[in-house]
Amino acid sequence: MQNKTAHRSLDMAVELKKGIYWVGAVDWNLRDFHGYVTGRGATYNSYLIVDEKIALIDTVKAPFYPEMLGRIRELIDPSKINFLISNHLEPDHSGSIPLFVHDFPQAKIITGAMAAKGFKKYYPGVPFETVKTGDSIDLGARTIQCIETPMIHWPDSIFSYVPEDALLFSMDGFGQHIATAGRFDDQVTMHDVMFEAGKYYANLLTHLSPLISTTLNKVTEQNLAIDMIAPSHGIIWRKHVQTILEAYRRWCSGTTTKRVVVVYDTMWKSTEKLAREISERLYSHGIEVSLMKLGEHHRSDVMAALLEAAGMVLGSPTMHRNLLPRVADLLCYMRGLKPAGKICAAFGSYGWSGESVDLITAALKEIGADVIEPGLKALYAPDAADIAAACDLADTLAERINNR
Ligand code: FEO
Repeated sequence: MQNKTAHRSLDMAVELKKGIYWVGAVDWNLRDFHGYVTGRGATYNSYLIVDEKIALIDTVKAPFYPEMLGRIRELIDPSKINFLISNHLEPDHSGSIPLFVHDFPQAKIITGAMAAKGFKKYYPGVPFETVKTGDSIDLGARTIQCIETPMIHWPDSIFSYVPEDALLFSMDGFGQHIATAGRFDDQVTMHDVMFEAGKYYANLLTHLSPLISTTLNKVTEQNLAIDMIAPSHGIIWRKHVQTILEAYRRWCSGTTTKRVVVVYDTMWKSTEKLAREISERLYSHGIEVSLMKLGEHHRSDVMAALLEAAGMVLGSPTMHRNLLPRVADLLCYMRGLKPAGKICAAFGSYGWSGESVDLITAALKEIGADVIEPGLKALYAPDAADIAAACDLADTLAERINNR
């Protein structure tokens, strides 16, 4: 008996607009993206515009080249592709370029002006041309306009905009690491997508917020009509374009809610006891609390929780005159991502030397946090005085947040 649904396959290209297709790849099994846990996998989105001339927007991570090529072949003969536009040099998008160039040397490679230095290093001998903001590529009925967007996510990054379709290819911007069968925001669970969009922002883009703000303003000033946003990762925005634009405005401006992330690691549960007391007291003041023990919660999940939180309390006992390693790891990660505008405090137990609280305090200040001092140190196991001090610390933090 003929299978009536045989026309629908996960291997197929997906049409975004008439003659414009998703031809990327879905990485269902990716669980780590340079230190960021991708619990739902990822996609590498490349797009094909079939006009009088044909353009491929970005490629995919090299192992997925055959998957991308299969989708392209379903639509056209790849030897007819005129342009390969590389919006971003990071190898999750450019990794298939040398394979593609080897197989289809007729395609002219075009990339952002800032990509030149890196492109020569990654792909020596591969010819390319560069574009800058204001340049456009004529495909026939459509044009592709270039908008340089440095540091979203690397200096080389560019957006490609097709005015005739009000379609923005936003590369890493507005992306999410999530592997789904549906390609559009109205085909998947929005809660999951927005959570992953926030986690992605928190773990990849937080430190670039001022530049993202500039880029959003640039797009606003140009008054670009945007009917659809096609990023390089995750689902394509067509129903919830304003939702993701508003979320980015919120995230890059550092808007926070009355929430504190209480993060700790513990040796013999003394620091854990303080964490619980602090959480309980914050909650009693109407502050929403996320209590996260490192080891059970990954650093990248802590960053996601912190994205819209007003504050963070970070605890470690002292071990070997230092921090527990998972706390040091988190602080190293935060030093790079620099979440801005957080009110923070440090706490921890100790046996004799007691450096951990001072080390956390110094690290949080270096990151730029507004740190409440002194932090809370408890000798060995917290007693009634230590619990009272934990409540005092929480009271101070809650007051600062409530009076913001
Ligand atoms: Fe998805 Fe910066 O690469």
